Amino acid sequence: MIRPPEYIRSIRPYVPGKPVEELQRELGIGDAIKLASNENPLGPSPRAVEALCRVVGGLNRYPDGSCFYLKGALSEKLGVSPECLITGNGSNEIIDIAVRTFMSAGDEAVMGVPSFVVYPLAVQSVGARAVQVPLKEWRHDLHAMAAEITARTRIVFVANPNNPTGTINYADEFERFMEKVPDGVLVVVDEAYREYVRDREYPDAMEYLRAGRDILILRTFSKVYGLAGLRIGYGISRKEIIGEMDKVREPFNTSSVAQAAAVASLGDDGHVERSVSLNEEGKEYLYREFRRLGLEFLATEANFIYVMLDGPVAAELYGRLLREGVIIRPVGPDAVRITIGLPEENRLLVEALRRVFSRWTGPVRPAM
Ligand SMILES: Cc1ncc(COP(=O)(O)O)c(C=O)c1O
Repeated sequence: MIRPPEYIRSIRPYVPGKPVEELQRELGIGDAIKLASNENPLGPSPRAVEALCRVVGGLNRYPDGSCFYLKGALSEKLGVSPECLITGNGSNEIIDIAVRTFMSAGDEAVMGVPSFVVYPLAVQSVGARAVQVPLKEWRHDLHAMAAEITARTRIVFVANPNNPTGTINYADEFERFMEKVPDGVLVVVDEAYREYVRDREYPDAMEYLRAGRDILILRTFSKVYGLAGLRIGYGISRKEIIGEMDKVREPFNTSSVAQAAAVASLGDDGHVERSVSLNEEGKEYLYREFRRLGLEFLATEANFIYVMLDGPVAAELYGRLLREGVIIRPVGPDAVRITIGLPEENRLLVEALRRVFSRWTGPVRPAM
C-alpha cells in the first residue's frame, strides 16, 4: 500500500467535539446538549438565514472566488483595502494556506501549548517543525516564544484569546514581543473570539498592520456570528502577503451561501450584541455555580471556560457527562473546556455536574 512520508505518518489527527447526532446513535440520548465546540448557542442571525435562502436557487453556479461583496463589506467595516483580505473555508483554511505559502520542510513555526491544536497539524503536514512553548500562568509566554525564533522560523502563532484557556495577552506585552520579532517572520494573530473580549488591555493587532509589519490577523464567522456550519473566515494582512497566499488558495474555496450569509451577518450588529451579552450572563452564572461546586477554572475572555481538575480524570468526567446527555471537551488529562451555552443549557450542565460529582469516588476536584 502506498505510504505517506514519515512527517504525515507521525501526525496525531484532530479530534473534533462530538456531534449531538453521534451521541444519539451511540447512546440513544436524543436531547443532548453540546458545549464542546465554542459555537454560538443563539444560532445565526436571521438575516444570514434569509440571505442564504435567497442564493440557493443559484447553486448550479460556482461561487465568486474573489468574494467581491464580502470583501467589500469587510473592507468598509475594517477600513482596509479589499486587496488586504483573504477569505477561507473557515479561518482554519487560512491557517493552512499561510503555512503552505510560507513554510517548507525543515522550517519552524513557534506556538504556545496548550493552544489551538490545528497549528501544529498544519505545520507538520508540510514537513516543518512545530516549536511548542508552554504557556506561563495560562497565557502565551510571549517572551519565551520570541526567544525561540531562529533563522528557520517562518511563522509565530498567537491565539488571542487563546483556545483552550480563554486567556489573552495584553497590549503592552504584545508590543514588547513585536519589537523582538525580526523582519521575515510572519506573526499570525488568531482573533477567532475577539468579539467576546471585555478586557481593555486587549491589543489592536491592526496597528501593526498599519505600521507595515509582517502580520496576518485571522477572524471568523464561526463563533459570535454563529455560522460554524457554513465554514467561512478571513485573514487581514499586507497586500503583498495576501497576494502570495492567494496563489495557493483554491479558486472556489468559499461557497456562495457562506459568502451571502457572511455579508448579511455583518449588517446585524444587534445579533452580535445579543450573543455577547448572553455569553456574559452565562459566564457569570457558570462562574458562580462552578465556585459552588468547588471547581477551579480560569476567567475567560471568550465563550468557553477552562476547568482544571484535581487529577487525570478529564476523560472520565467527559464520559460521565456524556451519559447525562452533556457533551464537553477534555483538553489534556486533567482539564476540560466547557462552551457557555443558552441559560437552560448552562443550568442542565450544572445539574448534570452535581449528579456526576455526588456519585464520584476517587480524586477529582471537587467532591462537593
Ligand atoms: C483559536 C481558533 N482559531 C481558529 C478556529 C477555527 O475556526 P473556523 O475554521 O471555524 O473559522 C478555532 C475554532 O475552534 C479556534 O478556536
